[in-house]
Amino acid sequence: MLQSRVPIPHEPLPEDALLETAITAGRKAGALLLQYTADGFRIEYKNPINLVTEADHAAEQCVIDHIRGRFPSHRFLAEERGSVEPTPSPYLWIIDPLDGTTNFTHGYPAYCVSIGLEYKGRCILGVIYDPSRNELFTAIEQRGVQLNGRSIHVSETMTLDNSLLVTGFAYDIRETPRNNLDHFCKFAVKAQGLRRTGSAALDLCYVAAGRFDGFWEVRLNPWDMAAGSVIVREAGGRLTDFSGKDLSIYGQELVASNGQIHEAMLTVLNQESPQA
Ligand code: IPD
Ligand code: CA
Ligand code: CA
Repeated sequence: MLQSRVPIPHEPLPEDALLETAITAGRKAGALLLQYTADGFRIEYKNPINLVTEADHAAEQCVIDHIRGRFPSHRFLAEERGSVEPTPSPYLWIIDPLDGTTNFTHGYPAYCVSIGLEYKGRCILGVIYDPSRNELFTAIEQRGVQLNGRSIHVSETMTLDNSLLVTGFAYDIRETPRNNLDHFCKFAVKAQGLRRTGSAALDLCYVAAGRFDGFWEVRLNPWDMAAGSVIVREAGGRLTDFSGKDLSIYGQELVASNGQIHEAMLTVLNQESPQA
């Protein structure tokens, strides 16, 4: 018997519920982090410069509990506990409960909660909350990006000469030759200014908001990039690896920019380092 080809209806994503859930989770975890800064916290050492605090663990639990309460079948990839997969689901929440732990432990107020969502392998939602400044960055694919409810956009800076750039260094900086110091030196003499804030997720938000013109880093993890990549994309920015290929959050290398200075950044990143 001939079967008629009826197209399978495309199930609309519950975008508003997903966003609202991520926002509430981010705000709750952010409030918890502030509470720990007031009350104090225990610190453990993953290596001499890679710290984790009880606040990291508590914030992670808080985010997962909240999201799981609304979406019990969804999967999670979270920095401190790794992959949590109760069922096969097209939804994967990618969470950094405290991005900027070193800053946090020193009372330097540059840290945030970062919550990204992949649907069928594509990052579609990003929520990043900076509790110290009460700044909430939210983005959903094709619906733009907001900072505290107002649309934001990348900068229009055209040249490296006029750019404020930012970067970061991984925790194995003492062990690996791929430590980013070579790139740092090259950009230091090409850019108008260069910063290292200590929170990759906020660095991405600041590119989206036009506060930075470009950001690069090596050896990042998916939870550093998931939410921020949607935020930069929706703000009109460009995201690639060092060879110019579209960003994969599983690929460690990241270049994020306003688009205008992207090729110039790639050129610098691919220059041979002068021999010592
Ligand atoms: C770190 C921060 C830092 C970056 C490191 C990350 P954590 O994350 O984002 O800016 O340079 O590569 O590991 O450990 O504070 O969540
Ligand atoms: Ca991080
Ligand atoms: Ca972290």
